[in-house]
Amino acid sequence: MTPAQPLPRTLLPLTPVGGGARRHGSRSLATCHYRCGSACDMPVPNTTEHGHVQDEITKVVGRRRVLQGAAVLGVAGAAGSLGGLVASPVAAAEGDAASRAAAAARTTANLGTTPFRPVAPNTVDAVRTAPGFTHDVIIRWGDPILPGAPKFDARAQTPEAAVQQFGYNCDYVGLLPTTGDKALLVVNHEYTNEELMFPADTYTAEEIKMISMRNHGMSVVTVKRGLVPGSWRQVKNFKRAPQNRRIHIETPFEIDGPAAGDERLKTTADPTGREALGTLNNCAGGMTPWGTVLSGEENFNQYFDGVVPTENAAAYARYGIAGGTGRGWSSVDPRFGLGNEPNEPHRFGWVVEVDPTDPSSTPRKHTMLGRFKHEGANVVIARNGRAVAHMGDDERGDYLYKFVSAGTYAPGAGRKAKRNNMQLLTKGTLYVAQLTGDGTTDGVSDGTGKWIPLCSDTESFVDGMDVADVLVFTRLAADRVAASGDAPTRMDRPEDVEHNPVNGKVYAALTNNTQRGTTFPVDEPNPVAGNRNGYVLEMTPDRGNHAGTTFTWNLLLVCGDPSAAETYFGGFPKDQVSPISCPDNVTFDDRGNLWVSTDGNALGSNDGVFRVPVEGPERGKVQQFLSVPRGAEACGPLIADGSRSLFFAVQHPGEDDGSTFDAPYSTWPHTNDFPRPSVCVAFKAR
Ligand code: FEO
Ligand code: CA
Ligand code: CA
Ligand code: CA
Repeated sequence: MTPAQPLPRTLLPLTPVGGGARRHGSRSLATCHYRCGSACDMPVPNTTEHGHVQDEITKVVGRRRVLQGAAVLGVAGAAGSLGGLVASPVAAAEGDAASRAAAAARTTANLGTTPFRPVAPNTVDAVRTAPGFTHDVIIRWGDPILPGAPKFDARAQTPEAAVQQFGYNCDYVGLLPTTGDKALLVVNHEYTNEELMFPADTYTAEEIKMISMRNHGMSVVTVKRGLVPGSWRQVKNFKRAPQNRRIHIETPFEIDGPAAGDERLKTTADPTGREALGTLNNCAGGMTPWGTVLSGEENFNQYFDGVVPTENAAAYARYGIAGGTGRGWSSVDPRFGLGNEPNEPHRFGWVVEVDPTDPSSTPRKHTMLGRFKHEGANVVIARNGRAVAHMGDDERGDYLYKFVSAGTYAPGAGRKAKRNNMQLLTKGTLYVAQLTGDGTTDGVSDGTGKWIPLCSDTESFVDGMDVADVLVFTRLAADRVAASGDAPTRMDRPEDVEHNPVNGKVYAALTNNTQRGTTFPVDEPNPVAGNRNGYVLEMTPDRGNHAGTTFTWNLLLVCGDPSAAETYFGGFPKDQVSPISCPDNVTFDDRGNLWVSTDGNALGSNDGVFRVPVEGPERGKVQQFLSVPRGAEACGPLIADGSRSLFFAVQHPGEDDGSTFDAPYSTWPHTNDFPRPSVCVAFKAR
């Protein structure tokens, strides 16, 4: 690449600050800026005064292949967790002494049962695991994943190389076993931080935009078990990794479901409204029981520049689409200019489904699951066979959602079953959650809840909105329901929502909301004014029926410094837990323990991953299992392979105000003189 005009040092100018100011938690201004377009500086999109919806809303909506025998690791199908069922080649050879020893090692390595001494809060520039455990870096930003991909050179990046290499800022991590010791690692690349990606005076502004655009998306990477039980490594002989894939900003996606083809989804390049290019700001996700991956398009609003159209202006505002300079991408791809393509933003904000086993498959955007700032989606099969997806809209004061399929799940890995299951997310009913407290005199935040239907694939349940209106402008639909007096509950940033395959309950991370108590009144589900440390919500479907519309709920965790009066740890003694702040992603081991990763520790130490039993005498015993390096957030996490392996992503290491490629706050994983977001695996040390 030939340097042309020098890059302005601050590609996306940061708001001037003094002395380490923070928006929320300990998150840097840089993270806020690059990840979500400084959403916290924008007006709160949910201005619904419940029981009263603005007239503008009325006006706006008035116009207008899994391999045979493969099982899913670490996720639940109809039969519950399959994580422990995956055959190990070592187990197959049991009978000799070596195998018995290996089997014993595996047993002691179970992350759900092995006691550990918690990691102390720290600010070191390293991954630190609990004593007796260790970790490996599996793959880093820029590592080649496709045949012919050039070796990564941060000083000679090109757009062509980026789509053959592992993308930036890994977030969701899924694992799908294929054959023998191999599996497919599926990873989201949520966003880019140009300050940390590019040395000064090396690239033109246009080159930076094109390379950054292509560092978004997803990767499918073949991995293989390592020698130490629980360890994994990348398969670097790409002849043995034919399913590897980079999904990026130019990858075609099919738009399906009831809103496909809607006028508001049509653009010059796609007059059908059925084919979108690329996926953006993919945050969390989930592996489906049928072996595909769901991924949430989250802060998609920040990528569009120009002037916000007057038509549907309230809808753009409700989604935080403010135009302006955006990321300036319209200079290299006109569709990111609102003046050129006012509908392009409507083609983002969906849950996407990817079949990682078939690199030639067209991934899909499911309109049936609604459009909002999707954190992710996790599917559980209800007793009646319906596929149920729980979802969070990660915004201050926004809602929890659920989808229940019309069709039923077909077990098995055969083609017929797969054909059936790949249609499950195209028809069904979309709901939004209402949580009601039972009063605070009992000393705990708990109560009852119901799922309010918004629409099915054939019928809208929201006055004045048809099915496509509800799906394209789901936030407006939920607000409008509030106007009827049956208000969904405005939550404190609902993030990952996932069912526990062992106890059947559903857990949601509610990261934080410093405007609770001001913009949003304190209520029993959101009880802390100025909530800086977040909660973990536990929901129990009535009669264990995930497809039903009623549930009970309680806050399992009110996070923070255990010495703070408002904190709560499931009733466990507060002097025996690790401090925890800003829960973000959740997962479960094969014993049903909850594992939580954090984003933006407001207590001043690095983020991490925590284990939390949810049943029995240790319910609520929060223990920090690992911490991530400076500036990073802990993402992923996924317990897999018989609960021997904890996969996790180290996202945005070194991200802090003033931190640059040339003068970074972190150099983790210390293979270069700049930081590289990476996926790791933690396991019992030998
Ligand atoms: Fe990408 Fe909601 O965190
Ligand atoms: Ca109560
Ligand atoms: Ca997240
Ligand atoms: Ca999860």
